Amino acid sequence: MAREILVWPHPTLKKKAEKVAVVDDSIRALIKDLFESMYEADGVGLAAPQIGELKRVIVLDTRPRQPESKPMAMINPEIISLEGSTTYSEGCLSVPGEAEDVDRAAFATVKYLDEQGVEQTLRCDGLLAIAVQHETDHLDGTMFVDHISVLKRELIRKRMKRLKNDRAAAAKADVEQSASL
Ligand code: NI
Repeated sequence: MAREILVWPHPTLKKKAEKVAVVDDSIRALIKDLFESMYEADGVGLAAPQIGELKRVIVLDTRPRQPESKPMAMINPEIISLEGSTTYSEGCLSVPGEAEDVDRAAFATVKYLDEQGVEQTLRCDGLLAIAVQHETDHLDGTMFVDHISVLKRELIRKRMKRLKNDRAAAAKADVEQSASL
């Protein structure tokens, strides 16, 4: 089931997510929800805290930019090495409509558990390397906006406030309209 994606700033997005102790059906159900939420919103990555679950689970699908890649779920991902540097214009499903250049490592090696609870290690490059860094950041309460200048961040904060107000007003209008039928 696609779930509501929290919009920054939000207290849950600032919290550190908890390590998954056992990879069971509840975790696999969470992964399914994450994929469905990510695809519905047209994203290439999503972290569990973004749908309000403070668990160390992320999903990635960078096929739009890397056709050779495949959809992936990572449980308890841990970046074990970073190499090189690059700058990428990043967006985030929790910061709709915004994108800013962020400095990242060009290559990331990540250790994680797959959906069967088996430990895997993967060296990533390109968008996948960026996405792994971006999504694991989410698990520690860090957003891409924390990597940009205060001025840019405060402008985005204002636009997100307006977006939240607009959404609330639209929801209220929907209720009023339905009540009049
Ligand atoms: Ni994000």
